[in-house]
Amino acid sequence: MHHPPFACGIGFMDPIRLAPDDARALDALLRQHPNVERVVCGHLHRAITVRFGGTVAWCASSTAHQVALKLTPDAPDSITMEPPAFGVHLSRAETGLVTHCVSVD
Ligand SMILES: [Fe+2]
Repeated sequence: MHHPPFACGIGFMDPIRLAPDDARALDALLRQHPNVERVVCGHLHRAITVRFGGTVAWCASSTAHQVALKLTPDAPDSITMEPPAFGVHLSRAETGLVTHCVSVD
């Protein structure tokens, strides 16, 4: 999904996540399906991991700029030129699903 179903604490991004009522409905639905390994999303332009719906929700870094890590409710919109990155999801019987965040120069 694009917009994350969770709040991340970055003040100017949290109001534009998946609507809280819809996030609660998704959380309840996922709890009925424990086989779901990940909820993968974007939009936050920063690697973020949370527990959600009885599974792992993971937000991918941006392949361009990142959103600045400003964890206050009133922080202004801000991006930062931290290195671009992408996720690699490795799935093997012996490890299960493992997610790596890979920075790119
Ligand atoms: Fe977006």
